[in-house]
Amino acid sequence: MSTANFIKISDDFEGYDTASLSVPYHYENDLDKVIIPYGLIQDRIEKIAKDIVLDSFGEPITAVCILKGGYKFCSDLLDKINVVNRLQAKGSAPVKLEFVRIKSYVNEKSSGTVEIIDGASLDVKDKNVLVIEDIIDTGRTMKKLLNTLTSYNPKQVRVASLLLKRGTSLTGYKPDYCGFEIPDKFVVGYALDYNEYFRDLNHICVINENGIKKYSV
Ligand code: HPA
Ligand code: MG
Repeated sequence: MSTANFIKISDDFEGYDTASLSVPYHYENDLDKVIIPYGLIQDRIEKIAKDIVLDSFGEPITAVCILKGGYKFCSDLLDKINVVNRLQAKGSAPVKLEFVRIKSYVNEKSSGTVEIIDGASLDVKDKNVLVIEDIIDTGRTMKKLLNTLTSYNPKQVRVASLLLKRGTSLTGYKPDYCGFEIPDKFVVGYALDYNEYFRDLNHICVINENGIKKYSV
């Protein structure tokens, strides 16, 4: 599989000035830099879609979208998988979709516990599961989720995470498919939130002190 193949955003990458890209007026003073513009997110997802279809050898996929943060990545990834499938002369991979809701963050800190909401109704038994997640930070959430999923006896579980935070892993966990490896900074946008704000921002950005204060709970 394609773990080694991701875009690395280095620690000394400054990012792009928010004034040189389009961000909503209501967040203009709350962001430091854009670190991954929306267009680059889309380009990277297209390649992940291609890798996933190639690795599936025509077997059906059950995508499990991790709400809420994973909804944009899931939607764009499945759209692009559908395109790859349409262009495939043979070996296309049929896709089913399940949703799981998990909550583990308060302010910018992991609460240390993971709550899986409505996991029991998941139809994953004997399926080739593709977990679709926005970000892997400590790896604890994913480990817990994988334990739960495994207990439902899937045929196979693969994980696609748009982001992987460098240096914060407590578990050494690495996803099968990763969009970008990023510095250890709190990021928002493209459905990633800070206390439910910033999901309505298309670029992935680093939040500033003003934003942290303004939207803290
Ligand atoms: N941003 C948003 N949600 C998160 C992050 C982050 O940096 N890390 C873990 N969940
Ligand atoms: Mg969140």
